[in-house]
Amino acid sequence: MAELLYLKEAEQVVTVAGASDKPKVGEDLSEIGVIERGSVIVEGEKIAFAGTDADARHYLQKRSGKVKTIEATGKILTPGLVDPHTHLVFAGSREQELTMRLKGKSYMSILQAGGGILSTTKSTRAATADQLAHESRLRLDRFLKHGVTTVEAKSGYGLATDAELKQLRVAQQLNNEHPVDVVSTFMGAHAIPPEWKQDPDGFVQLVAEEMIPQVAAENLAEFCDVFCEEGVFTVAQSQYILEEGKKHGLKPKIHADELVSFGGAELAAKVGAVSADHLLKASPTGIEQMAEAGVIAVLLPGTAFFLMTEPANARAMIEAGVPVALSTDRNPGSSPTESLPFIMNLACLTMKMTPEEVLAASTINAAHAIGRAKDIGSIEAGKNADLVLFDAPNYQTLQYNYAVNRVDTVMKAGKIVVEGGVLLEKTDNQRCSLATEDRGTRPIWQK
Ligand code: NIG
Ligand code: FE
Repeated sequence: MAELLYLKEAEQVVTVAGASDKPKVGEDLSEIGVIERGSVIVEGEKIAFAGTDADARHYLQKRSGKVKTIEATGKILTPGLVDPHTHLVFAGSREQELTMRLKGKSYMSILQAGGGILSTTKSTRAATADQLAHESRLRLDRFLKHGVTTVEAKSGYGLATDAELKQLRVAQQLNNEHPVDVVSTFMGAHAIPPEWKQDPDGFVQLVAEEMIPQVAAENLAEFCDVFCEEGVFTVAQSQYILEEGKKHGLKPKIHADELVSFGGAELAAKVGAVSADHLLKASPTGIEQMAEAGVIAVLLPGTAFFLMTEPANARAMIEAGVPVALSTDRNPGSSPTESLPFIMNLACLTMKMTPEEVLAASTINAAHAIGRAKDIGSIEAGKNADLVLFDAPNYQTLQYNYAVNRVDTVMKAGKIVVEGGVLLEKTDNQRCSLATEDRGTRPIWQK
């Protein structure tokens, strides 16, 4: 019989329970099911019990076998955080673009001059699968240390069939190897690569007719995403790609209305997208249509912060009844961070989301945005034992003591993987522990 793990008497257990069928909207987003002096019992990979400590002791009396106790006094327990939008797998680094932007260049002008996404495409195409896996593993380790137990990962730095497949295979490999679960999204339509600059429709056709069928045949992704933005992919091109994806079983997601109001939110509603992400410039009509269609708004306040622009209007979306989730958008250009807790701080301080809304948006609603809400995103009997113990007296402190990592213990599928803020198992045995991003612009394999 499996040993039971007894997480004993946390100051608060933030369960976020009761929303596994549908994401939380409106006022319900603030209902996060806090149990004061709560305990959780884990059996194998699953949560067996969550409730008050008094009830936990009754539960244990009825069970036989060994019990290991983890004292949670002085701490709070939350579901493992879920990041539903990352560009995890890439090589190279773009720190020089920050200086360019500080001197007045825009994100889009850097991309149009062949930098930005296209610069990362060059280094990602040049990298081997092993190099990509090594660099991405280090990012996953940092996610884990910030309490993130599941991430979505997009391709989109290959922009050619083989290079896109290479990225997705690495994401799949990491999902199998690393404690953090990785849910894959195909995003071949992330930018027009230089060799297709004169024939963007030709590239769109390549994405739809060659890449999507191969991705689906190899079962390499669950979702299909498009960067629908002025100067990148038009609404018509985006719709075509997302519809072709649907025909091959890939559920639509969309980078929408990030830099200009472009009809991305409206398109998300029209194609029945699972989520529309960014939405800084989403129109009131678009927001209304998203609410009606039940499209989840994945908001990325770290990207607005790093690009030094106004964030999305989270309050308008919540009031309109749009389900809201939060994410890092981890990528080398517009959001180089693995700290979902800091993104939660930004959601609170720059978008005026309350500490309750922020927690629901980073757990159960984020799980809905990647189709995993049956298994993760809340603390309920039967769900995966993905849990975080924060060294904090109450959940409000996580937003109040901003930009400080208060993660103490992380449990993934019933196994403790972070203790005292330290990763217990090394996930990468390569001698060099620095990714190119950490070393600067020269790739490690050239040093
Ligand atoms: O979500 N906006 C488009 N794609 C990414 C950025 C990718 C990059 O700059 O490398 C995003 O912000
Ligand atoms: Fe993104």
